[in-house]
Amino acid sequence: MSETMPSTMRDRAYQIYLDFLETAENKRRWNIFNDVPWERLDSGKATDQVGDRVEIFCTEELYVPDYSSKALDLTRSVFGMAWFQTCWAFEESRHGLVFREYLTRSGLRSPAQFEALETGTFSKEWKLPFQTIRQMTCYGALQESATFTAYNQQRNKARDAGDQVLEAIFLFVGRDEAAHAGFYRDMLQLELIHNREETLADLAYVLSNFKMPGDGLIPDYRRRLASSGAGISPRVFLARVVWPLLSTLEISREEMKGAMKKHAPVTVSNARAEISV
Ligand SMILES: [Fe+2]
Ligand SMILES: [Fe+2]
Repeated sequence: MSETMPSTMRDRAYQIYLDFLETAENKRRWNIFNDVPWERLDSGKATDQVGDRVEIFCTEELYVPDYSSKALDLTRSVFGMAWFQTCWAFEESRHGLVFREYLTRSGLRSPAQFEALETGTFSKEWKLPFQTIRQMTCYGALQESATFTAYNQQRNKARDAGDQVLEAIFLFVGRDEAAHAGFYRDMLQLELIHNREETLADLAYVLSNFKMPGDGLIPDYRRRLASSGAGISPRVFLARVVWPLLSTLEISREEMKGAMKKHAPVTVSNARAEISV
């Protein structure tokens, strides 16, 4: 599966990726071995609830082989987007890895428990939730921003609990997610410039069908998010993810509501009831 894109858009997509990469290489790279203060790991701070939260995030990050192979297949003909996917996959691969290291080094999960988790995880396959580059761009802008919001919340919790290792992990991982959201937001801006009507229709459609990647894939996802305190509420999703995105893209609420009415089977307020991140 691949798509074509007009050459002016392709040139701009390349530039957006180059800007993303320059910032990543110069300012954002972090080292899993040296930047996380592992020597300060305090098993006393690593409670069962922390273990449940980190495990669910880790599981969601473990699907990186599916996320990256399917997204690469979709974007392979657009240089900026395909190369972004390769860079993105490398960054995401470290997220699952650092969560795994935290779970095992802290003793929250034994190697055997982690192996069982890995087997369970890969017995299922993640599939693209949307079928076009533009819809997946809408999805990426929302999903990465929701993930950043959840991780930022976890960073605050870790700080309040005095867990310096987990605080550092959520800082680095969250910063990556914010940068990913930024890339998709810039791509969405580009799509809006080229085709506002259709892009708004896609955004309305994606918003009304939005769910996090682990939802429907990880057993008991919503319940576990809620009971462990790992999720973000629908209110927070709207306040920290949806409205800021629309405001950055200069889409008024009226314009968005109009698009939702026309192109999505449910309203924004109905859609948010479906969102349990
Ligand atoms: Fe991630
Ligand atoms: Fe991400």
